[in-house]
Amino acid sequence: MDASVFSDRVEIDVRKGTCKVKGAEYPSVGFGTYRLTGEICTRAVIQAATVGYRIIDTATYYKNFDGIAEAMKSLNRSDFYIISKVWHDSHSKKDLRRDLEQTLNALQTGYLDAYLLHWPNSKIPIEETLNTMTEFVKDKKIRHIGMSNVSVNHLIRALEVGVPITWVQVEMHPFFYDKKLLDFCKKHSIATQAWRPLDLGRTTEDQILREMGVKYKKTACQIALRWIIQHGCIPLPGSKTTTHIQENFDVMNFTLSEQEMQSLNQRALTGARFRLDEERAIGFLDEFDFSYEECWPKG
Ligand SMILES: NC(=O)c1ccc[n+]([C@@H]2O[C@H](COP(=O)([O-])OP(=O)(O)OC[C@H]3O[C@@H](n4cnc5c(N)ncnc54)[C@H](OP(=O)(O)O)[C@@H]3O)[C@@H](O)[C@H]2O)c1
Repeated sequence: MDASVFSDRVEIDVRKGTCKVKGAEYPSVGFGTYRLTGEICTRAVIQAATVGYRIIDTATYYKNFDGIAEAMKSLNRSDFYIISKVWHDSHSKKDLRRDLEQTLNALQTGYLDAYLLHWPNSKIPIEETLNTMTEFVKDKKIRHIGMSNVSVNHLIRALEVGVPITWVQVEMHPFFYDKKLLDFCKKHSIATQAWRPLDLGRTTEDQILREMGVKYKKTACQIALRWIIQHGCIPLPGSKTTTHIQENFDVMNFTLSEQEMQSLNQRALTGARFRLDEERAIGFLDEFDFSYEECWPKG
């Protein structure tokens, strides 16, 4: 693989709690906006910005671009790293162009910091999709390209196209993580973001996380987020609640021991990932175990 393919490498500094992309530095906890719409979304994004979050994750699927655009009116756009994701039904050249234009218009911004494929689509050649995204980079409409909900074989196919993949967004929380995928991403200098990092708040009640938190005077959710950060991933916790938004950002001033990391890893390795009802319809298999040929048609 040509080294230039990885020229947009994200540098994660776990100790400092930052990630650096092309010289710009951001705190390595992002703000997730799934299920936040309208005024609730606007309020939550402003609160998150006030607390210090600088990475904001959205998607066409979330129908909240207006709420985010409203929040950004009182914020400085260039201070933020905005990620959006295109739905799997819009991966052709024509549909991608339409989705990006609609996204930029609705967000009232001239560019996205990262544009991700929300789910893979096994019907559209990945060459067509990634080459179109490269044109967006050249036109300065997006800064970085990423993917979400992919398997290692998807990534192998995608890297063959020779387009730099900066991010992969995957499910990750203390009840599940895909070690094989994370190892592959590390090896290929692809940075990772963790979706559903609190397993929708289920981490709150977990006894193991709670007990670990006593030692550090941290909550179970903060232990969960710290575990993700120490894996070199950017967690994207979502919340509409002011105290939670603050709590989820306050995770940089302690370090889990190697032994604590290992014990959380062991449990997460045996967990099951969340399944989307329509996964089968878009070609996902039960074990998320695609052969190379099943991922994408040759372009
Ligand atoms: N790529 C993908 O396919 C994909 C899929 C899902 C999500 N995502 C992204 O990942 C983000 C996070 O995922 P998610 O929102 O589904 O799940 P999550 O962040 O694990 O959980 C959010 C839920 O946890 C609660 N919560 C948050 N902080 C809490 C705290 N400190 N204590 C107790 N409860 C807390 C929230 O309630 P309150 O609002 O009351 O705080 C909310 O109900 C999304 O917003 C989205 O940006 C991506």
